Amino acid sequence: MPALIIALAALVVLGLVLLFVTSRRSDTNAAMNSVSAETMRRDRERVTAGGGTEVEQTGRDVEKAAVLARREGDLIPLDDTEIEPWVAPDPEAIGVARRQFLNRSITGLFALNLGAFSLAVIAQLWPGASEGFGSVIKVGDLNDVRTSIAAGGGFLYKPEGRMWVTEYPTGALEKGRAIYGSTPAWPGIEQGFKALYQKCPHLGCRVPDCGSSQFFECPCHGSFYNQVGEKRGGPAPRGMDYFAMSVAGNVLSVDTGQIIDGPAIGTNTTGQEREGPSCLGATSH
Ligand code: FES
Repeated sequence: MPALIIALAALVVLGLVLLFVTSRRSDTNAAMNSVSAETMRRDRERVTAGGGTEVEQTGRDVEKAAVLARREGDLIPLDDTEIEPWVAPDPEAIGVARRQFLNRSITGLFALNLGAFSLAVIAQLWPGASEGFGSVIKVGDLNDVRTSIAAGGGFLYKPEGRMWVTEYPTGALEKGRAIYGSTPAWPGIEQGFKALYQKCPHLGCRVPDCGSSQFFECPCHGSFYNQVGEKRGGPAPRGMDYFAMSVAGNVLSVDTGQIIDGPAIGTNTTGQEREGPSCLGATSH
């Protein structure tokens, strides 16, 4: 029984404490709210120079004012500048510009191609216009050419003319006249030279020289030719083709635009035999 009384007393005390705490919090909140509202009101009020007060507008006040103004139709423009009305671009004008661009591009490309083609045709019809293959190439002074051939071990290569220049032995000239005398190469052969096309008459491989044998030896199918391009063996149908030559003012010129078919099989005006081991199957240059 005393325990029950003690428990009831404790509950009453606890209830009183709870009641007290709750009432204190609501007082504090009310006080804070009232202070906050008061502070906000004072914040909006400013003291004017004349001693009066003016109320500062909030964002909500501004919005309300704008809505009102819109409804009454008296919105004030931002400034006096007149705003240009937007005009949509003319689709016809856009189409014309695109067509013009395409037309001009096509015309330009056509003109460019035509120009390049014309230049190529002129270069082809006028061999002297360039110094490359197909044109007349000045090989040089006769003595200088001889020196260059000796320096090359019996062979002078002229890449611009795709040709080899070798010496034609003076002792073979009499025999040679019968074979070459009526060709446009004779003026150069008479002076002791032969200009040979590097292309093998068999299937067109480039024919290199062979220093050891002093022959031309084709690495493709084994045709070989003496130093003046006369065929000495292999499947080629004739000797190496050669070029027309001229000599003027002691200068040898070769016309790489005039290719003469090589001498027939069996032609051997110089009687030259292999002077050493063949280069066929070995590295040649
Ligand atoms: S291409 Fe030279 S022998 Fe065939």
